[in-house]
Amino acid sequence: MPAPVVDQAYLKAVEKARRGLRALIAEKNCAPIMLRLAWHDAGTYDAKSKTGGPNGSIRSEQEYSHGANAGLKIALDFCEQIKRECPILSYADLYQLAGVVAVEVTGGPTIEFVPGRKDSLAVPREGRLPDANQGSQHLRDVFYRMGLSDKDIVALSGGHTLGKAHSERSGFVGSWTHQPLKFDNSYFIELLNGESEDLLQLSTDKCLLEDPIFRPYVESYAQDEELFFKHYAESHKKLSELGFSTP
Ligand code: HEM
Repeated sequence: MPAPVVDQAYLKAVEKARRGLRALIAEKNCAPIMLRLAWHDAGTYDAKSKTGGPNGSIRSEQEYSHGANAGLKIALDFCEQIKRECPILSYADLYQLAGVVAVEVTGGPTIEFVPGRKDSLAVPREGRLPDANQGSQHLRDVFYRMGLSDKDIVALSGGHTLGKAHSERSGFVGSWTHQPLKFDNSYFIELLNGESEDLLQLSTDKCLLEDPIFRPYVESYAQDEELFFKHYAESHKKLSELGFSTP
């Protein structure tokens, strides 16, 4: 399916929102939670029923109140500021643009952004996002349901190069790397270094080391940041376009 076409006025709004998001993220230091918002709006996609996905539905109270989304109201409120300045932009595009800008301004790869997502308020059932206490089979169940691959699972897990866990949100505490506001390949380096007292590794992070298909990707990304950035940008674009256009 070709990407939907948007008009000139809409493209101008995208560029205005992009600038607004850069300033907002710098001012609030909120790149990590903006990336998590984009991922949680998209990560509910079910390829079979073509429901969920990056459609802005996470703005509904029913969805942002799901346990997995604890804390994301903060990011939704930040995005409202941009929506007020660029009202023609769909929420679905705005949240995905926020994720792309969050990666870019923290030093990560440039991710191609194609606008034109439609908004929906159809709330997916709770439980479609991954559970941090599980392992490889669960990650495959969840990411295959979206239509994503083993490589996408490992590359996208590298999103944990940014940010930290908060006890009042997920019950977990700590960051995955020593520089949680810098997008780099240190998530994979720390994963290979093994568990340490000062850094977090969820069960779903550690399983990437034990699985014979996941582990070679972890090793390559730890050695070669350029390769990680290339794969991350491809996988992030796929995630941001689930149910919208096929790459
Ligand atoms: C944070 C789980 C995949 C980006 C978190 C937190 C958990 C979690 C439990 C802590 C939330 C909090 O307490 O604030 C998982 C699981 C995943 C997964 C089980 C399955 C693979 C991803 C992906 C991305 C991502 C694919 C993006 C590409 C983030 C970011 C944060 C985060 C940036 C930090 C948020 C902040 O600092 O406020 N994740 N995640 N995660 N996740 Fe994931």
